[in-house]
Amino acid sequence: MKVVEQIKEPVSYEMELFEQKFRLSMASRIALLNRITHFIVNRKGKQMRPMFVFLVAKMVSRGQVNERTYRGAAVIELIHTATLVHDDVVDDSLKRRGFFSVNALWKNKIAVLVGDYLLSKGLLLSIDNNDFDLLKIISVAVREMSEGELLQIEKARRLDITEDVYYDIIRKKTATLIAACCSLGACSVAPQSEDVEKMRAFGELIGIAFQIKDDLFDYGNERIGKPTGIDIKEQKMTLPLIYTLNNCTATEKKWIINSVKKHNRDKKRVREVIDFVIKSGGLDYAVKAMYDYRNQAMEILDTYPETEYKKSLVLMLEYVIDRKK
Ligand code: IPE
Ligand code: IPE
Ligand code: MG
Ligand code: MG
Repeated sequence: MKVVEQIKEPVSYEMELFEQKFRLSMASRIALLNRITHFIVNRKGKQMRPMFVFLVAKMVSRGQVNERTYRGAAVIELIHTATLVHDDVVDDSLKRRGFFSVNALWKNKIAVLVGDYLLSKGLLLSIDNNDFDLLKIISVAVREMSEGELLQIEKARRLDITEDVYYDIIRKKTATLIAACCSLGACSVAPQSEDVEKMRAFGELIGIAFQIKDDLFDYGNERIGKPTGIDIKEQKMTLPLIYTLNNCTATEKKWIINSVKKHNRDKKRVREVIDFVIKSGGLDYAVKAMYDYRNQAMEILDTYPETEYKKSLVLMLEYVIDRKK
């Protein structure tokens, strides 16, 4: 069995029901919008976030989920989808999930509006059902994601990013939503329990590892269903490059900064920077950091009794690190 199938097994019933609810949650009376949302749901992603929601809920409650858990999972996936649609506009990226992005097919104007629609549909799903505790968790994540994306743009302009700022960016733009999945999963079944905070911390740690992995993909040549090698073009400095800048000579540093600043659209020059980063151990350094975060997340899981749900979450930690897309 593939590892994803194995992870899903204890929540396969919930994931199937989730998918029906997720599809329905996007419906609109506007034909153009329906065409686009159909396009989006037919190219689904890995659906890791709803898996986190269900696995955490079942681990914490020893197997019980409820309607709040389902709605929470749908809201999170709606918001995740909205941010991807917007992210591809922001990053000028024409590929997503192995096919054209929404902006590639319908242009930026429509992609911005579709992202807003999905975001509002997500928030309303919580509001209409009085899930205000869950809505609070989600809204904090939405705010932080916007802040993270903007901080990233600010740093790309000035090229003065440090490791601390890098972690701040990825914690906000990516880890917060995964933290929200885990705390929401716990909150949906045990609102007053200490598990809510414990699972938030767990999700944040694995979310950071998840984004380090995503940033590592950009340095590779694997086919992952979205472009690679675009971070430097977008002047986005991630951990491998930050490490390299802090561990090279002043002349080399000047050459890198100049490459990112003025030659970021020159494919050959970008390739040279990538090769230099690899040679300097930048990737190895980032891989090590990724494992550190995975291990910290594991320590939290270790405090829970052995169940099939916990086993899946342990596998999920491996998957975040070993995944091929
Ligand atoms: C992509 O998330 C955006 C990041 C936070 C890096 P996923 O890799 O979970 O995207 P899909 O949903 O599987 O396409
Ligand atoms: C992740 O940002 C997307 C968000 C969290 C909004 P990236 O731009 O790094 O992600 P990909 O690589 O395009 O999926
Ligand atoms: Mg981006
Ligand atoms: Mg992007």
